Parts: sequence; C-alpha cells; structure tokens
Amino acid sequence: MTTSATPEITLQDEVDAFLTPGDPRRAEARADPYPLYRRMRETDEFFRAGNGIHLAVSYASVNAMLRDHRWGRDPFAPDDELQLSQRIFMRNVVFRDAPDHTRLRRQVSSSFTPRMILRWREQVAAIVVERFQPLREVAEFDFLHDFAVHLPVEAITTMIGVPADRRQDFIEWAEMMIRIMEPPAHTEDMLAEADQLAGAIVEFFGAAIEERRREPQDDLLSTFLEGDRLSSDEVISMCLILMVGGFETTANMLNNGMRLLIEHDDQYDMLRADPELVPVAVEEFLRYDAPPRASLMRVARESFDFYGHEIHEGDRAFALLGAADRDPRTFAEADTFDIRRDPNPHVAFGLGTHFCMGAHLARLEVREAFNHIVRLPTKLERAGTGPLDWKDSFNIRGANSMPVRWT
Ligand code: HEM
Repeated sequence: MTTSATPEITLQDEVDAFLTPGDPRRAEARADPYPLYRRMRETDEFFRAGNGIHLAVSYASVNAMLRDHRWGRDPFAPDDELQLSQRIFMRNVVFRDAPDHTRLRRQVSSSFTPRMILRWREQVAAIVVERFQPLREVAEFDFLHDFAVHLPVEAITTMIGVPADRRQDFIEWAEMMIRIMEPPAHTEDMLAEADQLAGAIVEFFGAAIEERRREPQDDLLSTFLEGDRLSSDEVISMCLILMVGGFETTANMLNNGMRLLIEHDDQYDMLRADPELVPVAVEEFLRYDAPPRASLMRVARESFDFYGHEIHEGDRAFALLGAADRDPRTFAEADTFDIRRDPNPHVAFGLGTHFCMGAHLARLEVREAFNHIVRLPTKLERAGTGPLDWKDSFNIRGANSMPVRWT
C-alpha cells in the first residue's frame, strides 16, 4: 500500500505565490497580506523568496536598502536597443540612477515643493466638490470608480496641461504602463500594443511641446521645457510617469482611506467631530494600508553582503513598505488603526533618492477629499454584503470596486 503525503507548503512557496499575480494560492494574502508580512519579518528581515528575489520586510532593512546606492534602478539596455514604448516609458526619474536621475529630477522637482503644490489647492478642492455634488443625489455609488479615480487624473492632467478631451487617452497610456511594470515578464502582444500607444503619445505631445515652445503656459509641460535641459522624449516620459505614479496610488489611497473609516466607525465619528485631525489621519491611512505595497524593483549593481545574505550583481529585490509600516519595533500597536497616531514616521512614500516626488500633491488631494467628506451631513457605509474583491496585483493594494451608500 502506498501513502501519498501532502507536500509541505513552505513560507518561501507562499511568498513566491504572493509575488505572482494570477496565482490562485495568493487569494488569502491578497485580501490581507499583513499576517504574511509578519511571518516573513519574524523569519528574516531581508527575506529570500524561493525564486531568488529578496524582500526587505522590516523598518530597518527597508531603510537600509532604499538608502544604499548599490541597489540600483538602472537595469535596462542602452536606449538605442529599446523599443519605442520602452524608451518613452522609461526615460524618466523612476528608471534612472545618478547622474541621469539627478539631472532629470532637478528639472522637475521644483514644481512639486510644498509651496508650489499649495498653488493648486483651490483647483483640487473644486474638483472634490464638483465630483461629490451628483453623488449626494444618489442612494448608492461606487466610491472608487465614481469618485476616487477621477480626482488624481483630473488634478495631474490639469497641472500638466492635457486638455479634458484627451484625458481618456492619457488614462489608457498610463494603465498600459502600470501593467508593464508588474513583476512577470510582459508578453510580445503587450509590447506590440504598448508600441502602438507610444506612437500616439509621441504624436500628441510632439504637437503640445511645439505649442509650449512658441507660447509657454502656466502648466508643468512649459516648466519642464525651460532651459532645454531635457530632450522631448524625456519630457514626454516625465509627464507619463507623473500620471502613472499619481493615478492608481492616489485613487486607491482615497478608497482605502474611506474603507478604513467605514470599518472603524468610532474613528470616522472622531474625525467628523474634529476635522482638524484630517492631516494626521491621512498619515495613518498611508501607514496602515497604502496602495503601493512595495518599492519598485531594485537590482544589485555589484556583488556584496547585505543583511547576512551574499548578493550577486544583477540580483533583484523589493522593499516591502507595507511590512515596514507594521513593524512593531518602530510603531507601538502597529496593527491598530489610530487616526491620532503622532509621530508617524511611515515609509509609504519610499525613502532616499527615489522618494515620491508627488508626496505633497498626494497629501493635498487626500486631505482635500476627506476635509470635504467628513463635513458632509451624512456618513457613508458599505453597500452590498459580500467581501471586497481585491486587485490581483503585486504593486497595488486596493479593491476593484467599493459600493457605498449614505447612512
Ligand atoms: C498616496 C499616493 C502616493 C503614494 C503612496 C506614492 C508612493 C511612492 C513611492 C513608494 C515611491 C518610491 C518608489 C521606489 O522607491 O521604488 C514613489 C515614487 C514616485 N512617485 Fe509617488 N506616490 C503617490 C502619489 C504620487 C503622485 C500624486 C505623484 C505625481 C503626480 C507621484 C509621483 C512619483 C514619482 C515621479 C516617483 C519617482 C521618483 C523618483 O524615482 O525619483 N506619486 N511614490
């Protein structure tokens, strides 16, 4: 008689599944990844998955990795070997190390300082009010699709100078980029489609850039062209990455924030009673459940020892920001959602040279949204009974939709 033993599922197998969108074994971690993060953190602060990818999972190792220049973001072929879509998508700060990164970031970062971002406050607040107006009239709506996705898209396209009738194209280009950035290698079909979209992007921006060169306007596109320090490809790429960096992240942060308040009714009431708490509460949304779970991939630029592991040139790693932000060595009661938490040194916007360039804009958008929401005469609650359907994504933590209704 033969007995068939059930093969043991190791933590490494679970992590491999977690890193692979489409893998059915990841359903549980998709809905709630934090227990898995804890087990990794307790096993090794710099966890090695079965497929060889490393994950920084403690607050200390995330800090160390993101500040260490031996972990680079420049793993790509020379520009002339890239396809059009890759060239257009990757000639920006996100895919470059110093000195190119420094030159690109210097040209654009002055538009994202707190003072410059505050200039957009009225416009952002107006978008919130305008988007909420019709929702007040309906009994039930989808918070993500009817509100959250619109705010970041309208804000950044207005700032860049994309006309409202081209907004939809811009969204499609950005979504394609987001798909290309998921960990598994992209298919030939995807690259072909991306190339086609890239052609349309170059055409649109080519004309817009010519216009701005003749007559600069009060928009980011005109600022990026100042002094001719960036090539046209780099300007286009920068505009796209602003959309990609700011669209899904902020939309899901708004949605996750709303979900957290609905799930923690006492804190929702507390915020309604004292809206001055909104800025502190937004930091807790970011710590407790930020949409980018991880940094983008880093590649070892040389061989070295890191957190007791022998790293070889070309090895890949991610910093799991969401795991660092629940590290009990840094945050007391790390798994407790507390909108009054202060200080709150979370790493939801990353760290080091690639620290989120849009952090002040993101904060402005989320604060303005909740400043409005908590002052409304009625509260929101979840509509429907089933559990949320979580995105099957490694990069983005968020639900596919969130039906809500007025209480
Ligand atoms: C809640 C919303 C947001 C979150 C949580 C977030 C988070 C992040 C994180 C973690 C990084 C670092 C990635 C890494 O080190 O690999 C990053 C980089 C970046 N983010 Fe954001 N982001 C948000 C919104 C925005 C917005 C609104 C914009 C712009 C419109 C933006 C633009 C960027 C850019 C350009 C970078 C790359 C910076 C560089 O490589 O030098 N982000 N973001």
